[in-house]
Formats: sequence, C-alpha cells, structure tokens
Amino acid sequence: MAQIIDGKVISAQMKEEVKQRAAKLAAQGTTVTLAVIQVGNDPASSVYVGNKKKACEYVGIRSLAYELEEDTTQKELLELIQELNGRGDVNGILVQLPLPGHIREEEVIQTISPDKDVDGFHVQNVGRLNVGGEGFVSCTPAGVIQLLKRSGIMIEGKECVVVGRSNIVGKPMAALLLRENGTVTVCHSRTKNLAEVTRRADILVVAIGKPKFITAEYVKDGAVVVDVGIHRNENGKLCGDVDFDSVSPKASYITPVPGGVGPMTIAMLMENCLQSAERMAR
Ligand code: GUN
Repeated sequence: MAQIIDGKVISAQMKEEVKQRAAKLAAQGTTVTLAVIQVGNDPASSVYVGNKKKACEYVGIRSLAYELEEDTTQKELLELIQELNGRGDVNGILVQLPLPGHIREEEVIQTISPDKDVDGFHVQNVGRLNVGGEGFVSCTPAGVIQLLKRSGIMIEGKECVVVGRSNIVGKPMAALLLRENGTVTVCHSRTKNLAEVTRRADILVVAIGKPKFITAEYVKDGAVVVDVGIHRNENGKLCGDVDFDSVSPKASYITPVPGGVGPMTIAMLMENCLQSAERMAR
C-alpha cells in the first residue's frame, strides 16, 4: 500500500518558510507585494484568486487586487501591466487565466516583465528553465519537485514519465525532472501504447485532465505516482486523473486529490513572490 504524499503538510512547511523570509524583508523595509489581475468574474477564477489573496495575507505578502470588468479592452489591460512593471514596490504580477475571448492571452503574458512573472509563463522564463539560469518556474510543476524532494524521493537516474504536454504543467514538468537528472519521457494524446510507456516509470506524473484515467494497469509495482488532475464528479466529490483506489495498492508513494499537488501551487506562488522581492532588494 502506497505511502501518501501529504501536500497540505508540505505546503504548510513551505508557507512557514516564506513567512519568515517575508518578515525578514519587512524588517529591512521591503513589503513583498503581488498584484493580482482578474478580468471578468468567472466563478472558478474568483475562487482561485480568493485563495491566492488569502495565502498572501497568511504569509505576510501584500496583495493588490485589480478586478477589471469583462469588457476591459486589451489596450487597457496592457497599460495596467506596463504601469505595474514600472513600479518599484510591486514584486510580482499575476494575470488570472483564462481571459475573456476578445483578449489575446499570449500578448498579455509576454507584456508582463519577466522579472515579475511569478507564474513563470513568459517565454524568457520558459527559456531560462530550459537553458539554465535564474528565472521563475511555473508553480504547479515546481510544487511537484518540492513534494518529491521533501518526501525524500530521489529523481536522479530515475525513469520519469510525464503524461500531458501543456505549457503550464507537462512541458515545464519534463524540463524540471531533466534538470534533476531524471530520464524523462513525455506522453500525450497521440502516444501509442500509453500503458506500455507509463509502466516503465519509477516516477509517474499525470496531468491529462481526464478523471480517474490512470488505473493500476498503467503503473509499475513500487512506482511513485503524482496526480496533477482535479475534477469534481456528479456528487460534488473531488478526484484526480489517477484512479486512487486502483493505483494506491501498487504504488510506493502517491499524491491524493484533494490534498496533494493542489496546495503546492499556491505555496510555490508565494515562494516565487519572495524570490522576486529578494532579487529586487539585492
Ligand atoms: N488559471 C489556472 N491556473 C492558473 C495559474 O497557475 N496561473 C494563472 N495566472 N492563471 C491560472
């Protein structure tokens, strides 16, 4: 039976560390500040933004909330971002996605200063992740690395299989596992014989957006299984991309949903804001 990797406990540890560093910066006269921009009022986005603000408050980061109307123009949004780019008292800028259809998301992301792009979505940060060097890394995959390291799981030399190739999770996840000297395979919807590939994994990271898709037959005995998915079933219960009941007897470690990867995303966002403020204070 697999050991549970407890994302609630590990994210709480990380937030405590951030809180102490934020207090240290405050004592030196720097209030760490994150600007959070939401356009429109998509209910799911409002929940995420609310959780980000709460986490900021908890760790002692000031959050500036920009709640813009659904019909905000691309020009207005870009002007706000440019203003925030120029402000010495703003360390991080986060534009909650998705944006309304009339706004070109990619252009918005690339307008955020790479030095304040705490989501790690700017091409310059994506490039740095792949080439090496200092930069922001997308919060969810960075959180997965922390879950593994803080659970004492070695990545070096392991067969790592990532299922999913999104810009936010799959691709940066693969780059991070490679940076940790894992042997990395990326699978996606066109992969042939998926189970054959996933069964090679010592570390299997799943981010495909299909509820309970990964069952025991996809998993090698003793594998570490990390579930990035989150879905709500017809009874309102949360589940991941991994069929937990099927896989957990076979795995050595597994992340639950909820309480696995989810809480790590916000903890890493806090960490990225701190890193930005520490860099700006240097
Ligand atoms: N929407 C869903 N996930 C994310 C995220 O990690 N960052 C931003 N900005 N928007 C999102």
